[in-house]
Amino acid sequence: MSRRADAVKKVMIVGSSGGIGMALVRYCLEIGCQVAALTRSPSPALAALQQAVPNRLAIVECDLLDHQPQVEARLSLLFARYGYPDWIINAAGFLHAGTTSHSDLHKGLKDGLNKGASVAHIKSEPPNLPNQSKIPTASTQPLIAQCQMPEKRLSEITPAFLEHNLRANLYLSIALAQCCENLLPRSTPFRFASLSAMVGSIADNHSGGWYSYRISKAALNMFLKTLSLEWQRQFPNACVAAIHPGTTDTQLSVPFQSRITASKLYSSDISARRIVSVIESMTPEQSGRFYHWDGSVLSW
Ligand SMILES: NC(=O)c1ccc[n+]([C@@H]2O[C@H](COP(=O)([O-])OP(=O)(O)OC[C@H]3O[C@@H](n4cnc5c(N)ncnc54)[C@H](OP(=O)(O)O)[C@@H]3O)[C@@H](O)[C@H]2O)c1
Repeated sequence: MSRRADAVKKVMIVGSSGGIGMALVRYCLEIGCQVAALTRSPSPALAALQQAVPNRLAIVECDLLDHQPQVEARLSLLFARYGYPDWIINAAGFLHAGTTSHSDLHKGLKDGLNKGASVAHIKSEPPNLPNQSKIPTASTQPLIAQCQMPEKRLSEITPAFLEHNLRANLYLSIALAQCCENLLPRSTPFRFASLSAMVGSIADNHSGGWYSYRISKAALNMFLKTLSLEWQRQFPNACVAAIHPGTTDTQLSVPFQSRITASKLYSSDISARRIVSVIESMTPEQSGRFYHWDGSVLSW
């Protein structure tokens, strides 16, 4: 049931089998939205939710870094069926490969080590299609070590781990924006938000470390700011933002939670509500900002 009569929004969420992504799907359904959940492979919880609300939740199995025309074809079908999204939220990201239960380790890294692509990737790839992706594909990505954690010092940086961070934290948002640019009409009043992180703020970097994650989130921030300027002309009714969700209890933060006081570690449900609240408040005039989960504007 919707909170307000005028609040039935169409929402597209990327990374929807992740901790925050799944909570966003749940919360958006709770407030009455029509949701398209993009995931490389649906988690059992996401699949169960789809069974419960088949009319308001569509699951789209795809990896945005796969063959782009094919991804666009799927999204085009989605938009033809449900209409253009009001909110586009990228909740995908990567920090570490530190536990065997981490979803990326399970789906991406394991597949990479097997030198194959995900089941969804294989299913959706037509045979003999030339690969025209602008971005390295799952099968060409460099392999990272199992259990690889964020770097503490310069000597620990490797091209493979940096590339893995860039793919998940930067390239995915670029690919998503390219799909939107190719598919959405100029006048569409959409909001495009990617989950960034405070550690991607150059101004806020007082402790160092986590090179690849910081670099990839800082690059994401620069991408979103630059995109907001281009889209001011191209999509005058759109708003682009980076959002810091706060430290949230998900697989991504598990190895670092002992350093966090309990009151500063938020549940994914709380973070989802806060993210939606920030997105609800966004206007085209505010495009190109980096938001804290409380709605305040962060320094780049
Ligand atoms: N948790 C925190 O404390 C925290 C703090 C600050 C910022 N953030 C940011 O918030 C976002 C969500 O984090 P989370 O805590 O929900 O993480 P999570 O539980 O690990 O979920 C991340 C999801 O990102 C997608 N993903 C990861 N690597 C990918 C790749 N190489 N290609 C495509 N998709 C990939 C996957 O979604 P699918 O399985 O659906 O494909 C994965 O489930 C991230 O951008 C993260 O950096 C989180």
